[in-house]
Amino acid sequence: MLKVAIVGMGGIGRTHARHYSSNPDAQLVAVCDIIKERADAAAQQFGAKAYYSVDEMLKNEEFEAASVASAGVENGGDHYEPTMQLLEAGKHTLTEKPISNNIEHAREMVAKAREKGVKFGIDLNHRFTHMAERLKTMQNDGALGEVLFINMALWINNPNESSPWFHIRALHPHSIDVMRFFGGDIRRVQCFMHKGPGRTIWSNLSMNVQFASGAVGHLTGSYDASGHHPIERCEVGGSKGRAIIENVFQRLEFMPRDSPEKTVFEQGIMGGMGSFDDTFKNRIYKFVEQVNADEPLTASGEEGLAAQEVVEAAIRSHENGTVEEVPGIKN
Ligand SMILES: NC(=O)c1ccc[n+]([C@@H]2O[C@H](COP(=O)([O-])OP(=O)(O)OC[C@H]3O[C@@H](n4cnc5c(N)ncnc54)[C@H](O)[C@@H]3O)[C@@H](O)[C@H]2O)c1
Repeated sequence: MLKVAIVGMGGIGRTHARHYSSNPDAQLVAVCDIIKERADAAAQQFGAKAYYSVDEMLKNEEFEAASVASAGVENGGDHYEPTMQLLEAGKHTLTEKPISNNIEHAREMVAKAREKGVKFGIDLNHRFTHMAERLKTMQNDGALGEVLFINMALWINNPNESSPWFHIRALHPHSIDVMRFFGGDIRRVQCFMHKGPGRTIWSNLSMNVQFASGAVGHLTGSYDASGHHPIERCEVGGSKGRAIIENVFQRLEFMPRDSPEKTVFEQGIMGGMGSFDDTFKNRIYKFVEQVNADEPLTASGEEGLAAQEVVEAAIRSHENGTVEEVPGIKN
């Protein structure tokens, strides 16, 4: 039984709490928020102890793992401090995306986890779906052949105007992570951005990437889209076939190059994933399973950092009109 704590009891911290509470292999023992009412309400709802500072929680509570669901500037500015405190104390930690809006902080977090020998994961939940897993299995079995191109899109409605880079830093760790899941490391990036009507932030983007393998990719992103219609699409083109995941987990199509027959997997109504909330459940259950089994984490801190390095390269590209290399990636 994994004893867990959660830092940050806003909507997403409470989502983590629901999924730890329903997991038979985890026990939620503590919740922490600097806003006392939030910690108290969550403690009462989930039968855990309330704390109002991470220090106080670390001194008084025994647990092995924790989620960090703070937010802050660009939804990641507050992750650094509690994550570093938890990693320093030797706690396996699952931090919300973006790993951080500050790339130096993100690098330090990954280095700290390595130094302390603890597991560090990021909630890149968009790839924790049965359709993404099925396509990954098909890819590993050779059905796609060599990946040649990836076309990704992630569009939602978010009117937040807090920072020029809010859209790319807060949202696109998800889409870049899905691209990396199927295409591997991204080596070069070029990005254009556009402001939607009445907006002051760069709420639309078009990004070209080249993977370390040489394959090419594209990402369309928007915070000026509908919240009612599909939010995501991922197309992976390979030398032996092409696959499309529609709307995170709703449908997977596979079109082999050498046959006119298309294979379609569709989400049924009597099981499988029910809603986007299940991506959190799958991600959190995998974290618990891998910590309990002492296995390396899927969607690790390293992978969260790699996605954020691509985000930062895209910002540099947009500002300078350049093609940017992603640091640390070899051919
Ligand atoms: N994975 C996803 O699909 C997904 C979706 C939405 C949001 N998110 C992420 O979830 C995170 C949280 O989002 P939210 O909407 O719940 O934010 P929120 O602002 O409502 O809640 C964050 C809470 O963290 C608390 N907090 C901040 N620093 C703290 C600290 N050092 N110690 C204790 N408490 C602290 C704040 O007081 C606040 O109550 C963000 O990083 C966001 O990017 C992820």
